[in-house]
Amino acid sequence: MTSGDHSSMPRRRLASRRQFLLGGAVAGVGAAVAIGADQLLARPAAPSSATPPAAADAAAEQVHGADIVMFHGKHQAGIDTPPAAHATFLGLDLREDVDRDGLRRLMRVLSDDAARLTAGRAALADTEPELGAAPARLTVTFGFGPGLVTRAGGAAPGWLAPLPAFGIDRLRPEYSEGDLLLIVSSDDAVTLAHATRMLLKDARSFASVRWSQSGFRRARGTEASGTTMRNLFGQVDGTSNLVPGTADFDRLVWIDDGWLAGGTSFVLRRIEMNLDTWDEVDRAGREQSMGRFLDSGAPLTGTKEHDEPDFAATTSLGFPVIPDFSHVRRARSDNPDERILRRAYNYDEPPGGAAVSRSGLLFGSFQADVSRQFTPLQRRLDELDLLNTWTTPIGSAVFAIPPGCEPGGYVGETLLDA
Ligand code: HEM
Repeated sequence: MTSGDHSSMPRRRLASRRQFLLGGAVAGVGAAVAIGADQLLARPAAPSSATPPAAADAAAEQVHGADIVMFHGKHQAGIDTPPAAHATFLGLDLREDVDRDGLRRLMRVLSDDAARLTAGRAALADTEPELGAAPARLTVTFGFGPGLVTRAGGAAPGWLAPLPAFGIDRLRPEYSEGDLLLIVSSDDAVTLAHATRMLLKDARSFASVRWSQSGFRRARGTEASGTTMRNLFGQVDGTSNLVPGTADFDRLVWIDDGWLAGGTSFVLRRIEMNLDTWDEVDRAGREQSMGRFLDSGAPLTGTKEHDEPDFAATTSLGFPVIPDFSHVRRARSDNPDERILRRAYNYDEPPGGAAVSRSGLLFGSFQADVSRQFTPLQRRLDELDLLNTWTTPIGSAVFAIPPGCEPGGYVGETLLDA
């Protein structure tokens, strides 16, 4: 599809990746500006006399269903774009007879589906085309596991392998590894379900679903766009993160050579958060374990969310204000290259047995090099992190994320057409 397709869409709002980037980057002090820009973008054409009353009401309510994130581009969407409210992560296993030609066909058809659906158009042979009409910032991001790259006869980077075993891990195969990753995300759960079904229908003669994991953040419109998310422990989660549009982001997220140039890597860790035992900890204890306040998300040495933590500050008794065992102290490396782009989603499954909750985090991170950036961080947290008392990694997977493609191309062409 071409960008011209978008302009022909009546009353459809087409916000570019750059505009979304702006919205995300100006979070915090500039949030008011971001909201203003969003409202400007959202301003609908004045209802004509023919506009039905329901549509006029919807316009007044700032309906977001028509918001589009462009599929095509140098990088795949869903990485440097602000996270949508819902995400489903799918790990697929390739069928044994799928060869390099088969992979090419698969990625062509999936890329075409993704380009159509993210633009609010029906997929080919879409049986419920009405469901795709409101993309609500739908993005589809593809990732390749080690098995797929081998099948394609490509050169796998050294980090494209299961992570080293960590002492805290209690990994289950039903949440781990896989040949092909699909991250489907949208502000709307109906759109997401439909898009996922369309993609899986087209993938089923090539691959079977190994796992599917769904997560959520707050609904769009519940808080100002750009507000840092909260996880189900109630913590502000995602404050100290790489910021799209900065030199650090470009250097630490994007790969710059080989078939992955313009791509990145993705680590997905499914981490159970034991809310039942977390309930037994008082507020001060919870804040000590993190090193940040629960209300504002500020470090224990500050007052505002984005204040820099002062790890050298001590109490009158000489103890560090931010404890050495706290999550933020342990997760902050002295090496500025050991940083990652975190992009987490909450999950909340039906409880079973004596547990009231079965919740946790789909901890996703993008980085140019898993071994240099993610693994040292996870190793430090494995050695010491009070948060481990209440959290347990139960799933783990690593994928190479190819670059984006232009209209007429497909994701994976740098590997499969090389
Ligand atoms: C359920 C598990 C986890 C929870 C609930 C959690 C929660 C948090 C929270 C609330 C913060 C402070 C606010 C912020 O800067 O985002 C934080 C910071 C951070 N976390 Fe986690 N996290 C978890 C797992 C992990 C894992 C597995 C990693 C990486 C291997 C990680 C890496 C980081 C990093 C790098 C920071 C920023 C530290 C800094 O200030 O420089 N976290 N996390």
